[in-house]
Amino acid sequence: MTDTIDHTLEELRRFPPSQHFSEQAVATEAEYHEAAADRLEFWAHRARELLEWETPFTRVLDWSTPPVARWFDDGTLNVSVNCLDRHVAAGNGDRIALHFEGEPGDSRSYSYAELTTAVKRAANALSSLGVTAGDRVAIYLPLIPEAVIAMLAVARIGAIHSVVFGGFSAESLASRIDDAEASLVITADGGYRKGRVFPLKPTVDEAIARTRGSVRQVLVVQRGDNDIDWQEGRDIWWHEALADASPNHTPQAFAAEHPLFILYTSGTTGRPKGILHTSGGYLTQAAFTHRSVFDLHPQTDVYWCTADIGWITGHTYVVYGPLANGATQVIYEGTPDTPHPGRWWEIIEKYGVTILYTAPTAIRTFMKLGTEIPGRFDLRSLRLLGSVGEPINPEAWVWYRDVIGGGTTPVVDTWWQTETGAIMISALPGITTLKPGSAQVPIPGINIDILTDGGAPVTSEDGGLLVVTDPWPSMLRGIWGDSERFQETYWDKFGDKYFAGDGARRDADGDIWLLGRVDDIMNVSGHRLSTAEIESSLVAHPWTAEAAVIGVSDAITGQAVIAYCVIKQSHESDHDPAEFERVLRDHVAKEIGAIARPKRVYIVGELPKTRSGKIMRRLLRDVAEGRPIGDTTTLADPAVMKLIEQMSRAR
Ligand code: WT7
Repeated sequence: MTDTIDHTLEELRRFPPSQHFSEQAVATEAEYHEAAADRLEFWAHRARELLEWETPFTRVLDWSTPPVARWFDDGTLNVSVNCLDRHVAAGNGDRIALHFEGEPGDSRSYSYAELTTAVKRAANALSSLGVTAGDRVAIYLPLIPEAVIAMLAVARIGAIHSVVFGGFSAESLASRIDDAEASLVITADGGYRKGRVFPLKPTVDEAIARTRGSVRQVLVVQRGDNDIDWQEGRDIWWHEALADASPNHTPQAFAAEHPLFILYTSGTTGRPKGILHTSGGYLTQAAFTHRSVFDLHPQTDVYWCTADIGWITGHTYVVYGPLANGATQVIYEGTPDTPHPGRWWEIIEKYGVTILYTAPTAIRTFMKLGTEIPGRFDLRSLRLLGSVGEPINPEAWVWYRDVIGGGTTPVVDTWWQTETGAIMISALPGITTLKPGSAQVPIPGINIDILTDGGAPVTSEDGGLLVVTDPWPSMLRGIWGDSERFQETYWDKFGDKYFAGDGARRDADGDIWLLGRVDDIMNVSGHRLSTAEIESSLVAHPWTAEAAVIGVSDAITGQAVIAYCVIKQSHESDHDPAEFERVLRDHVAKEIGAIARPKRVYIVGELPKTRSGKIMRRLLRDVAEGRPIGDTTTLADPAVMKLIEQMSRAR
């Protein structure tokens, strides 16, 4: 953390907006003034301007029962109509909504009219399977058009989707199905990744076998053509269900606070939290930020957000924000290096992408590969670049602008979370003078502060804890089935101010610099992982007596997962350390998902603990990051750290 502060204080490069960009920018200075003058009226204005309401709202915010906010709560709307039908009705049915690029090179485009029809069919199919408003539907799909169609169809009938990233294991999927008591799962036989088909349906079968039995049906999209088992009466082909369904569907309007989706994210305990988002406020902020932060000109822009729908970025900036705004966008199923390392640049050239939104990890990976690969493609269509998921170091920021953006595009670094639902802190292109490495300023209508641990505002440039001081439209409305945890995690610390879990500092210009998580949550490639969740997976293995997991700095992925394990005496002589390491790494990947696979598992004789038995992860972090070991005087046995240090150096 201190390294980051020292480093960023020296960052003096500034990039004022070009006159050309400012003249055509969607965002206006006036919006900051409007929001400062009357924040609630500002949001009400955005909600009316950007969305179509079936029943107009008269109330803007009800904060009488914190921490659960109610926005626009006497209004009604249908989210999918806002993303689809109204664009067709406005005469934009022929505009392309999705350019889909499959990893093997197949491609398909959907106009707004075609996407609307597909969603109507899917909505009818879901209804005929007995799915009704409020039911939970789990979605476990590759990034293919059917994923977008499935989410919108679920939303259209007022059901609640819970998208589970396709890289998660059967166990992770099962626990999410159970927690939400999902009655239906939408999956595919398989999808393409790294040049081959990875199976999904077999994982769903395995997951359902482990659940408590809420799932009645499984809808299966045909994508990978891989062999799958079939359970008659439960499993249904997506294409058959849609073919049988009518293309006409009269949507029903739902209350603004009707639940839209649950999305699970790692917390500081072993159990993921089901973050709950609702309809009207969420869609308002999704649409507003997508328009203003990405300077969207829907008639001419081709927008590409590289996130998977399994993450909040995919929800807000692949599905809801862009479609609410009538944008044309690209979605890509596969990995950036398949079949060649220039795949992304090829896609940008092919579709003439104008706005690219991706993560620092990806940028750093490309940076390592050099300028020659992107240099082979015509990237001149790009006019705006975005970054999300973790702090972007100034070097990567400048490389992104220079090499991908031709030295002219604004780069917006956007800070937000699964819980915030939409972007909270970002420069506005065309207005803000850009500062590499800083997320800069709260968007209009959002109030942010930085507090000391005791809750006092930090006035100097020292770091503190980031809070959102006032409710915002796209804020989470709770943790599914666990209001106590909702209260404890975000509100107990500072009362009615939302505690984000991030450290931050504000510089003399008022720009905000994010300093990483202050809790036991790691950020690996922009994905949130919990140390406790990986530890509990490790100790669930019959060999493991104890485990400590830490996130250590990594030049590409931001952080990397490192585990220290003590093997049970009864198994100590079974294998050599390398074999223990291999098996335990695979075990975590199998139990949680490949993204959680530790980079290293060190087998140690003992973990460093205080006399009261608390594991001192700080010391493990010192060793792993090659620093001199900090204060060990509180250790029950100071010799433990010496052994761990010697061992880490030896390997
Ligand atoms: C955590 C939220 C927001 C979608 C992707 C991740 C970190 C996110 C930034 C940024 C510095 C960032 C924070 C945050 N984070 N964006 N621009 N600069 N840090 O969503 O999985 O809910 O993770 O990601 O630590 O709390 P998420």
